[in-house]
Amino acid sequence: MATDTTTIRSVEWKDDHILLLDQQKLPHVTEFIKLRTIEDVWESIHSLKVRGAPAIGITAAFGLALWAQSFKEKENFLGFYYELEEKKSYLEGSRPTAVNLAWALARLFNRFSQAATVVEGQALLLEEALTIAKEDEEVCRSIGEHGAELFQSGDSVLTHCNAGGIATARYGTALAPFYILKEKGVDLKVFATETRPVLQGARLTVWELMQAGIDVTLITDNMAAHTIAEKKIAAIIVGADRIAANGDTANKIGTRGLAILAKAFNIPFYVASPLSTIDLAIETGKEIPIEERNTEEVSHLNGIEVAAKGVKVFNPAFDVTPNEYITAIITEKGIIRGNYKKQLTLLK
Ligand code: MRU
Repeated sequence: MATDTTTIRSVEWKDDHILLLDQQKLPHVTEFIKLRTIEDVWESIHSLKVRGAPAIGITAAFGLALWAQSFKEKENFLGFYYELEEKKSYLEGSRPTAVNLAWALARLFNRFSQAATVVEGQALLLEEALTIAKEDEEVCRSIGEHGAELFQSGDSVLTHCNAGGIATARYGTALAPFYILKEKGVDLKVFATETRPVLQGARLTVWELMQAGIDVTLITDNMAAHTIAEKKIAAIIVGADRIAANGDTANKIGTRGLAILAKAFNIPFYVASPLSTIDLAIETGKEIPIEERNTEEVSHLNGIEVAAKGVKVFNPAFDVTPNEYITAIITEKGIIRGNYKKQLTLLK
C-alpha cells in the first residue's frame, strides 16, 4: 500500500514571495514565513531557517528570481545584467560549504544568457529556478529508489544530521530510501544522532520520520559506537554538502567520525547525494571551504550559557570524510563504488 509520507514542502515559490518553513522553530512550532526581498533570503540561509544543500540551492535560485521580478527599469538591460551579477555573488556569500548554492545560481545565470531584454531575463530566471526545484524532487526520489536496494527489511540503520525531505524539494537524500521502502511496506529501524551543536537530528530528522510513521530512535552523538555494537547497526547513511572529484565528502560535523566507526565495525558507510553536490572543479576534500559558525552554538543551549564563561570555542559546521571510508555514493543515476574520480566524471 502506498503511503504519502513526505508532503511538507520546506520552500515554495508564490509569485510575489517565497514561502519558507522556518526550520529553526521546528519541531515544536511549524511556522511558514514569507520572504519578500533578497535580503530576507540571504538571512534565512545564513541563520539556518532553511538548511540542507539542495534546499539552500533552491531557495537561493528563487531568491535571485525574486530580486529580478522587482527590477523596474525595463529598458536598462545592461544595468539589470550588472546588478544580477552582484546579487548572485551576494547570495553565494550566505553559506560557503554546500556547492548546491553556487551550482543553482550558476544555472540561473547560464539560462539568463539566452535573454535579450529585461522581461525575457525575468521570465527565464524564474523558469530555471522552478525547474531546479522540480528536478530536485525527481532526483531525490531516484536516489531513494537506488538506495532502497541496499537495505533489507528489519535492518537498523544510523543517520546523522538531517538529509531529509525538508533539506530538499522532497524525499531527501539519506532519508529517501527509508521513505521509498516505507511506501513498499518494508520497515527499517532508524537511529538518528542528535547532531550537536544545532541538533538537526533531534529537531528535524526525528520529527520528519515520526510523521511518516518510520521507526526512529534518537541518540546523542557520543552514543554512536555503543549503539552500533549493541543495536547491530547494519549500515550508516548520510547526505553531503560538497563532494570533491576524488569522492572526498564534506557533510555535517561528526560525519567523518561516524565513517571511521563504520570501518572499525566493518559495516558499510553510504553517502546519498545528487550529482548537483559533486564539485568536479575541486580535486580533493582539502580544497572544500569549511564554514565556521557562531561560538554560541557550542557554548549555549537554547540561549542558555552552559560552558564556562569566556572559554575558547571551535565551531566548524562540516568535516570532510576521505573517500577511502566511503563504501558507496548513491546518486540519482545509480550507486557508485571504487574509483570515484573516474566514475563521478563519467556520471556528471
Ligand atoms: O548545516 P546544515 O543543516 O545545512 O547541514 C546539512 C547537512 O550536512 C546535510 O547532510 C546535507 O546538506 C545534505 S541535505 C540533503
